[in-house]
Amino acid sequence: DLSREQVEAALAACQGRPGPLLQVLHEVQNRLGYVPPAAIPLIAEVLNLSRADVHGVVTFYHHFRQAPIGRHVIQLCQAEACRSMHCEKLTEHAQRKLGVELHGTTPDGRYTLEPVYCLGNCACSPAVMIDGELHGRVTPDSFDALIAPLS
Ligand code: FES
Repeated sequence: DLSREQVEAALAACQGRPGPLLQVLHEVQNRLGYVPPAAIPLIAEVLNLSRADVHGVVTFYHHFRQAPIGRHVIQLCQAEACRSMHCEKLTEHAQRKLGVELHGTTPDGRYTLEPVYCLGNCACSPAVMIDGELHGRVTPDSFDALIAPLS
């Protein structure tokens, strides 16, 4: 699902802007939903960088996904207000329940679990965003109820 054409289109869209590598990686992720391993040598070649340089940046910024995204994206807030309301317990529960670590996608492609740093819902910590919908005061039980209808 990746062609040189798509990477070149992403490169063309970034022309003339500073920080071409990050811009290109953002463009590729916007277009494909992730940065596939096959994109790394292509980007390195066009920007005249080493593959290690490009790979280093992709792995350094957790924002860049290295695998296709799941059908449902679950974002768990890890910032201060949610921490004070024990979001780490909820995060552990979610990881155990779905069988996937943060930044990961379940092997069946159903769920992607991501950390986020403040969803602007601090008054209702701990906060969770599921497929773009915000939920507050989420407990392990209410988390299970929220994901139950998702297929
Ligand atoms: Fe979690 Fe603000 S800290 S919503």
